Amino acid sequence: MRRILVTGANKGIGFAIAERVLEEADDTFLFLGSRDTDRGTAAVEKLLQANPDFANRVRVLEIDVSNDESVHNAAETVRAQSADDGLYGIVNNAGIGFGSSDLSTVLNVNTRGIHRICAAFIPLLVNAGRIVNITSAAGPNFVAKCGPDKKAFLTNVDVTWNEIDTLMNECVSFAGDVAAFNANGLADGSPYGLSKALANSCTLQLAREHPNLIINACTPGYIATDLTVQSEADRRKSPEELGMKSPREGANSAIFLLLGDPEGTGQYYGSDAQRSPLDRYRAPGSPPYTG
Ligand SMILES: NC(=O)c1ccc[n+]([C@@H]2O[C@H](COP(=O)([O-])OP(=O)(O)OC[C@H]3O[C@@H](n4cnc5c(N)ncnc54)[C@H](OP(=O)(O)O)[C@@H]3O)[C@@H](O)[C@H]2O)c1
Repeated sequence: MRRILVTGANKGIGFAIAERVLEEADDTFLFLGSRDTDRGTAAVEKLLQANPDFANRVRVLEIDVSNDESVHNAAETVRAQSADDGLYGIVNNAGIGFGSSDLSTVLNVNTRGIHRICAAFIPLLVNAGRIVNITSAAGPNFVAKCGPDKKAFLTNVDVTWNEIDTLMNECVSFAGDVAAFNANGLADGSPYGLSKALANSCTLQLAREHPNLIINACTPGYIATDLTVQSEADRRKSPEELGMKSPREGANSAIFLLLGDPEGTGQYYGSDAQRSPLDRYRAPGSPPYTG
């Protein structure tokens, strides 16, 4: 069995990725990551109501990506339950923050969360195992507005974790001070955009440091979930009415990078499962990036 962890899988795009993994590859076993066990259990029940056959292929894994102890405990659980087979894949999906302005919290989940999960779980991955980081078009859109030095930093394939960490600490010291971000070539310092641009940098760093793995990032597209649909009136509308796509469509690129045949490692993909640049937006359906 190919064992796969999806973080933040109790709802939204993570839930859709989990469901599609089980539907599309019957040799898979899924650790459905949820920071709250009850919400995770409810998600598994929902999955099993529609697909009772998945009963032996899915288990809730309590995991809060913002918390070292939670991630450590979850990795120990997976280690104990994976016998000698190891882990085939990790989808770093958990994320927050479209509307949040608390930079430190957003970075701790969206960027440090990826680093924390990879530090704990990479030792369990099999050779040529996959990591998929769900980032966002907000990353390249943010980089496009940066000054030349920060643009170079945020597209540097040789970036180290230490450099990413140092920049995050510097940014937290500017939090709320748009003029300071601007003066440092970091546009308006949008917490979400910055966290996703740096999550793409983590993808470059991890891919370089683990050449035996296949590590890529992707945006799901503009998807109707609790992250994007916040008013009660909008919740009653369909994704189409809102100009968004469904969570299942938002899983397309992640499923390709996890189970399909991507070109390589250390790349960022658009929601159409085609390569995209890190420093500007590429609309889905337009020619893939080849740089
Ligand atoms: N929706 C979009 O248009 C869009 C666009 C670009 C990128 N994305 C990215 O796609 C990913 C999934 O987002 P979504 O739209 O599906 O949002 P969502 O419906 O709000 O789901 C987010 C998931 O992340 C979990 N989560 C949040 N903080 C966590 C933590 N500290 N530890 C573990 N899990 C945590 C949430 O758990 P709880 O239920 O416990 O809160 C939930 O399961 C995110 O990384 C997001 O940035 C989404």
